Amino acid sequence: MTVSNTIPFHLQGNYAPVEDEISSGELEIRGSIPSELNGRYFRNGANPITGESAHWFLGDGMIHGVRLREGKAEWYRNRWVKTPFYEDPAKPVIDLENLDFSSENSKANTHVVYHAGRILCLEEGHVPWEISDELETLGPCSFDGRLDGSFTAHPKICPTTGEMLAFGYSWQPPYLTFLGISEVGELVQRRDIDIPAPVMMHDFNITAKRVVFMDLPVVFDLDVALAGGMPFSFQRDNGARLGVMNRDNENGDVQWSEIDPCYVFHPLNSYDIGDRVIVDVARYPSMWEAGSGQFTTTAELWRWDIDTVSGDVSETQLDDRPIEFGRVADSRVGLQYKFGYAVSLDLSEKTAKSNGGRLLKYNLEEGQSEIWEFGDGNDPGEFVFVERPNAEAEDDGWLLGYVYNRIEDRSALVVLDASSPGGDPLAEVLLPRRVPFGFHGSWIWDDR
Ligand SMILES: [Fe+2]
Repeated sequence: MTVSNTIPFHLQGNYAPVEDEISSGELEIRGSIPSELNGRYFRNGANPITGESAHWFLGDGMIHGVRLREGKAEWYRNRWVKTPFYEDPAKPVIDLENLDFSSENSKANTHVVYHAGRILCLEEGHVPWEISDELETLGPCSFDGRLDGSFTAHPKICPTTGEMLAFGYSWQPPYLTFLGISEVGELVQRRDIDIPAPVMMHDFNITAKRVVFMDLPVVFDLDVALAGGMPFSFQRDNGARLGVMNRDNENGDVQWSEIDPCYVFHPLNSYDIGDRVIVDVARYPSMWEAGSGQFTTTAELWRWDIDTVSGDVSETQLDDRPIEFGRVADSRVGLQYKFGYAVSLDLSEKTAKSNGGRLLKYNLEEGQSEIWEFGDGNDPGEFVFVERPNAEAEDDGWLLGYVYNRIEDRSALVVLDASSPGGDPLAEVLLPRRVPFGFHGSWIWDDR
């Protein structure tokens, strides 16, 4: 595959979009799919309808789905989320005349999450879009008209209460709003939160008692917006803060602590230890300096240990390998945990032609890690941990993700035994096409 220096990386190789929607029936399998895996693996990503977009993050959302049942792979489908851009691809992605965060003009391209009967396609700038379990677009979701602003692509579903906690951010005050969706899917909490500047807040953290916001200095920049592309730049002088809010505090009081300026797209997990909060993240030393929109640094695993009494934060690097797309068991979100999974991935331009090649399993209790290698020419994306029904151990389950094979120019859904790092896949579902490198996905059980 030839690589051009003039075409941006996100339009080349397996970052390039696919041109159409297809459906494929019973799929060839190498190995065997665990018989308990009855459900669907859906993964979202940016796949510009016109074939072009100004930035990797600005393409139209496309879901690639595989349906597994009783050891078979019954179908693969890919479908665009049918937002207004599907009918009118010429519509401006960022409309500077009308910066409307409550808009339905979402690219819906970042994550796909199941909660309380809804499958939501999420993009942090606008309201979610709902799809069916057959990947048909149902329409925008405003939670019965109660959501009038943006909604993060990384809500957190509390494994204890079943609530979906979220936030929205805006480039007009209030810059940040906390949102709580009840276990039955109603938007029942909203707290406006004061931060100094409009920043790009991609993700956040929950624990059993608290929420931790990351106010990091990737700041809305009108000059960059006017030039096209992602309208943000790294502004070190803005400083960086972690904001701890108690989940049961109706007033939304937040305790802010200064940290070294940096950027984080994705935490791994967070949890309480008494008056302390542990936050593990994939930390970049900076992001989009001078509004470049380029990935020129790598993220590594760091731990922030917040003392909620003194406000002090200790910042410790836990590993020096580049990682992204960290995941933990859904049942451990916000709780003390032992295992995290992340792709060893360097998004910097030097290696953007490939997506990297390894999956790491961190043992946070013992400070160790183990590796799955996918072999030359095989590039994994995010892997999702799926807990075995009635699991007794935290890592009793499977890891599911798409792996692109550069030689054959096609992808497979790979199923790994999460408790046996380094082992061969339990199953590879051979897909009829390549799945472009994308963002985040979920396993959605039939029995839910
Ligand atoms: Fe993300």
